[in-house]
Amino acid sequence: MKLAIADVLDRDNMSAAIDQVVTSVGDLHLTVLINNIGGINGFVKPQFKPFKNHTTQEIVATIDLNNSFSMQLTNTLFPVLKKNEPSLVINIGSMVANLKMPYLAVYSAANAANLAAEMRLENRKIEILCILVGNTSTPGRHTIRTSFTVPTARVMTAPALKRVGCSRDAEAGYFPRALQQASLALISGWLAAIFIGMEATKLRDTDPEAS
Ligand SMILES: NC(=O)c1ccc[n+]([C@@H]2O[C@H](COP(=O)([O-])OP(=O)(O)OC[C@H]3O[C@@H](n4cnc5c(N)ncnc54)[C@H](OP(=O)(O)O)[C@@H]3O)[C@@H](O)[C@H]2O)c1
Repeated sequence: MKLAIADVLDRDNMSAAIDQVVTSVGDLHLTVLINNIGGINGFVKPQFKPFKNHTTQEIVATIDLNNSFSMQLTNTLFPVLKKNEPSLVINIGSMVANLKMPYLAVYSAANAANLAAEMRLENRKIEILCILVGNTSTPGRHTIRTSFTVPTARVMTAPALKRVGCSRDAEAGYFPRALQQASLALISGWLAAIFIGMEATKLRDTDPEAS
């Protein structure tokens, strides 16, 4: 096993961090890249808040952590993934990219990237699969209570990996959550927006970091 450790919020050293990863996998037959890095833990406070209350630093950090680093890393490793086709990129994203959830505008925007259509158009055998994660109990979010729709990361890993090869670009990766997303898609736009808005308001008002 090879490890490369870097703080990707250290903008001045992002290229060096990517070089470090590329060097460490240089002699391996790399066919799978999983971009899991992300979140807003620790640097967006409170996490749910109106767009106008985000500081410049929070906007830059959210985009760097959830998008810039993984896009640049994927781009740099692309020649290797292309040489080793068939290959796979799994982007661990968030369901808020599709839900249009209020009070998470920057995080939602940073999770909306997708390369799959381009790979298809270019006839590349590089599968790009985005897993649209919802509330999940993880080391970074260990305070979340698990339930039918809120699994632990360990519980949702196997079903998420089974979606590889499913020929869809983005997947919930966990049945109860797929059900939740399908139900929201079934009801009309304005009704779904009311439910999502109520949930976003609740999360904003119960955020322990909200003053
Ligand atoms: N948990 C949820 O409810 C939820 C919901 C929607 C989407 N997601 C997405 O799922 C993915 C995993 O989230 P998670 O809940 O597992 O969060 P997490 O426990 O906070 O882990 C986030 C990952 O990003 C890494 N990371 C965070 N800040 C970093 C930095 N400055 N430099 C380098 N690495 C850094 C962490 O590395 P270390 O392990 O070294 O700290 C960890 O591997 C993220 O992309 C997140 O957006 C999670």
